[in-house]
Amino acid sequence: MRIGVLISGRGSNLKALIEACEEPGFRGRIALVVSNRPGAAGLAVAEAAGVPTAVIDHKEFSMRETFDAELHRALTKAGVELVCNAGFMRILSDGFVEKWRDRQLNIHPSLLPAFKGLHVHQRALDAGVKITGCTVHFVRPEMDEGPIVAQAAVPVLPGDTAETLSQRVLDAEHKLYPLALKLVVEERARVVDEHVRIDYDGATVGGPLFVPSS
Ligand code: GRF
Repeated sequence: MRIGVLISGRGSNLKALIEACEEPGFRGRIALVVSNRPGAAGLAVAEAAGVPTAVIDHKEFSMRETFDAELHRALTKAGVELVCNAGFMRILSDGFVEKWRDRQLNIHPSLLPAFKGLHVHQRALDAGVKITGCTVHFVRPEMDEGPIVAQAAVPVLPGDTAETLSQRVLDAEHKLYPLALKLVVEERARVVDEHVRIDYDGATVGGPLFVPSS
């Protein structure tokens, strides 16, 4: 399966996905990485791995729809079949999201539906939760919504700051996103009535993958 990865920044999840695709027998490969920011550090991550990159600078587009059309054009030209958002900080138009319905994943650094949006780790600390984590889900037009493929739990520890907590969650993201991607590229994760059903071993079919905190 040909994968397109959308980034805006440092690209640590991109790196985890690239490494997953390099595993023997992995049934996906990254055909294109697109950044909406020309200086995104993740572009160098892709280039170092020999993965094709494109920059589509949103500042050059006056309308969201024209940016999204260019993004769609680049992805289809590269033969992309599945889009992975990995720290992509642009809201996509409903039209784009519908074109990639059930073929676009996102990773969010909280246990959705808790803490959608930004500043999630500070908000988790402010709320006093003891467990947070990360979620991989299929993308829907509403931000940080959509059928959940996989979640990992991460404890909030005494003395945590937003920085220490975000690093612990990021470590979990780097494990979870490749696991979720593997299920999707092997077509073992399917959306049924807006919930993900996963074929775990040919006999066991169940709900989203859950990775407990270690
Ligand atoms: C991650 O925390 C991801 O969950 C969120 O943005 C961050 C991207 O980090 N959507 P990176 O660019 O993958 O390092």
